[in-house]
Amino acid sequence: MGEIDLFAESLVTPTEPALPFDISESLVPVRENKSAGTVLLSLDGLLDPPLQIIEDLKDGCGGKLWPAGVVLSKYMLRKHKSDLRGKSIVELGAGGGLVGLAVARGCAIDSPIYITDQIPMFSLMQSNIKLNGFSDIVHPAVLDWGNPLPEAVPSNPAIILAADCVYFEPAFPLLLSTLQDLLGDPRSVCYFCFKKRRRADLRFMKQARKLFNVVEVTDDPDKDQYSKENLFLYIIRKRGEKDAELQN
Ligand SMILES: C[S@@+](CC[C@H](N)C(=O)[O-])C[C@H]1O[C@@H](n2cnc3c(N)ncnc32)[C@H](O)[C@@H]1O
Repeated sequence: MGEIDLFAESLVTPTEPALPFDISESLVPVRENKSAGTVLLSLDGLLDPPLQIIEDLKDGCGGKLWPAGVVLSKYMLRKHKSDLRGKSIVELGAGGGLVGLAVARGCAIDSPIYITDQIPMFSLMQSNIKLNGFSDIVHPAVLDWGNPLPEAVPSNPAIILAADCVYFEPAFPLLLSTLQDLLGDPRSVCYFCFKKRRRADLRFMKQARKLFNVVEVTDDPDKDQYSKENLFLYIIRKRGEKDAELQN
């Protein structure tokens, strides 16, 4: 077990294990063949005791840690350590569940956190929840973007977390549709962190701005560092009437 370096993985591009669409594999780099292991994560001392995260790529790219997940976790631990009580939390495209688990370990919470992903990630999410002793407060669920929200997941969570969910263009409309389902209440807030890898990734944000109120986070002390790595952190909310007026 070893402590992970913040950006050590940042040059690796996530891949889809089983492509749901018929696209050339040259558009999606082949995943590296890495065996399973457990990493200890203190995130610069923000997590004490550290989290233990099993990384295992056998079921998909979510089986490893991604830089946006690290950035978003640190942001939540610094900025929302003590204001999440009474707030239900849903993580999208959680992979092994890093962000949700970091919030469970390092922030004061009293409502369940639902870490969600596609079916292949379910058992890894379950294992990481169990390994860190959060079975009572963190729940794994299958939430496939674009599909109706499963009953197990609250339809109007106060907080939505999404890290490194922008990388596969055919999934953009599905992710936007799920964000629309979850951001029905103007009080709901989505913390959305992604790494721009190709031009299409910016198209996602352009589409998101048409549908939602999108504000870039500028007061994160790590921002200068992660900006150099093309990482962006946004706060996304349901659009108000004023936003619509501004756009028209
Ligand atoms: C690059 S990984 C990021 C994992 C994690 N959030 C992190 O930052 O370490 C992207 C995740 O999105 C999930 N994903 C991709 N398409 C999805 C879809 N249509 N519905 C739900 N999850 C999806 C993948 O299974 C994967 O776990």
